[in-house]
Amino acid sequence: MIIGGSASQKLAAQIARKMGESLCPLETRKFPDGERYIRIKGEIEDRITVVQSTGYPPDENLMELFLILKTLQSMNIKDIRVVIPYFGYGRQERSFNQGEAVSAAVIADLIEFSGGSEVFCINLHEEGICNLFNVPAHNLSAMPALAEYLANCMDNPVIMAPDLGALPFAREIADILRCDCDYLEKKRISPEVVETKTKSLDVMNREVVIVDDIISTGGTIVNAIKMLKKNGASRIVVSCVHPVLVDDALLKIFAAGADELIGTDTLKSEVSVVSVAGLVADALKD
Ligand code: R5P
Repeated sequence: MIIGGSASQKLAAQIARKMGESLCPLETRKFPDGERYIRIKGEIEDRITVVQSTGYPPDENLMELFLILKTLQSMNIKDIRVVIPYFGYGRQERSFNQGEAVSAAVIADLIEFSGGSEVFCINLHEEGICNLFNVPAHNLSAMPALAEYLANCMDNPVIMAPDLGALPFAREIADILRCDCDYLEKKRISPEVVETKTKSLDVMNREVVIVDDIISTGGTIVNAIKMLKKNGASRIVVSCVHPVLVDDALLKIFAAGADELIGTDTLKSEVSVVSVAGLVADALKD
C-alpha cells in the first residue's frame, strides 16, 4: 500500500499504479492557525510506503511527513518505507561554521524517530546524507529518466555541466546518450571579475544540454546560458532533477536564452515533464 503526502499525491498514485499497489486514503488539512492535521483512513496491512517530497514549504511538508509516520508507528506498522523525492534541508549535511545546525542530520533523526524503517531519496544534494541514517537509505539517480526524454528531442548534443560539481550528473547522461560531455570552468581574473568558459569542447553551432541536480534561484544556469551563447551554441536545453525554481527563476532562465527547460516530478512545477515514478517503483520492488 502507498500513501501520498500532500506534496506528492500524483507521483504516489503513479508509483502505486506501476507497482499494482493500492493507494491509502489520507486526509490532510491545515487549521486556521497554520497547524497541520492528518488522518489515515485506510486499512493498513503490515507494510506501507509513504511518498512525500519536502520542498517548498519544507517545514510544513516535513511536519506532515512526521505526523504520517508517527501515526503509522502508533498503528503498530513496523515496515514503513519512506520515499522523499526531493530531500529538503539537504544542503547542510555538516557544519561549515562553528555553531551551525547540521539540518540534514536532524531531519534523518526525526524520520527514524517517527518510525521510518527504510528511506529512498533521489539525487541527494550530498550523497553523504545516506550515512546520516541508521536505517537503510538509498540515493536513486533520475539521470537515466532525463536521458530517455532528451534522446527523443535532441540530435547529438553536447552535455554540459554548469560547474565541476555537476560533472558526474552530466557524465551519467552523456554515457547513456553516447555524446560529448564537458563542464564550465570558472576562472577568477581579478577580485571583481570571474570568467566562465567551457573546459575543453567547442560548442559553436552545437546543440547543448545543461544538466544540474537542482535549479533554485536559476543564477548558476543563467550564467551558463550566457557563456554558451557567447561561445556560439545553436540551441540550449536546460535540464535538472529538482526544479525548485524560486521566485522568477524560470523567467530568468528563458530570458537568458534557454530554448527549453525540463525537470522531473520530484517537485511539482510547470516544467516537471519527466516522471521518476518508474525509477521509484523499480527500487521499491527490489
Ligand atoms: C549546487 O551545488 C547545485 O548543484 C546547483 O547548481 C545549485 O543548487 C543551483 O542553485 P541556483 O539555481 O540558485 O544557482
